Amino acid sequence: MIAEVRRFPDAAALTAAAADRITSEARDAVRRRGRFFWVLSGGRTPLPVYERLAGVGSFPWARTHVFWGDERCVPRGSPESNAGRALRVLLDRVPIPREQIHLPPVGAGPPARAAARWEEDLRRFFGRDARRPAFDLVLLGLGTDGHTASLFPGDPALDEKGRWTAAVEGAGASPPVARLTLTAAALGGARHALFLIVGSAKARLVRHIQTDPTAALRYPAGRIATLLPCTWYVAEG
Ligand code: 6PG
Repeated sequence: MIAEVRRFPDAAALTAAAADRITSEARDAVRRRGRFFWVLSGGRTPLPVYERLAGVGSFPWARTHVFWGDERCVPRGSPESNAGRALRVLLDRVPIPREQIHLPPVGAGPPARAAARWEEDLRRFFGRDARRPAFDLVLLGLGTDGHTASLFPGDPALDEKGRWTAAVEGAGASPPVARLTLTAAALGGARHALFLIVGSAKARLVRHIQTDPTAALRYPAGRIATLLPCTWYVAEG
């Protein structure tokens, strides 16, 4: 798939560029299709981007629907909740209709049952006959082991062809909690993925993924990058 890599001198420059890019993609989606279906990434890297977007007055929030690529199975108020953090730094501060914030139902029972409920919610939204969710933009991070969302190396959810969601043990993850994640099948149906990468170790991994033909087999991020057009925003420090 097409891969564009843009390198930035520092995290601040990456943050500004990412906010501009997301805003531009939102406006374009609304112009062309009347709405913007945006999958937010978890982790800490995107938080400054979310904070910056809270100040973008022209962002088409009335036509934007937000989803998540993954969520930790923790209370929404936990500092480790991906959705909880995005709500606090962005979504509670902008005029997005609450019904357009599609929260992963982490509290809906054990992880496997919550994943099934999440899938049900997504299929109800996108239509029973939808082969994959029609996301416009998927924001993704990268772990130093090559994971993205909560798709970890060797995870069977990487090979999932039908289901859109999966529950993940997360024992070796940070934090070591169970998680819900979109599968490669769900992420691969999006129009575009934007990876946000900050740090020298991750920047080296991006170079490896871009140059190693076996990367798609070794790293989940490499695998996702074969499924849809991807842009990688990278800052060493
Ligand atoms: C999560 C994320 C995960 C994250 C990477 C990078 O729930 O942890 O979805 O995939 O994007 O681990 O995390 P940082 O941005 O915090 O380095």
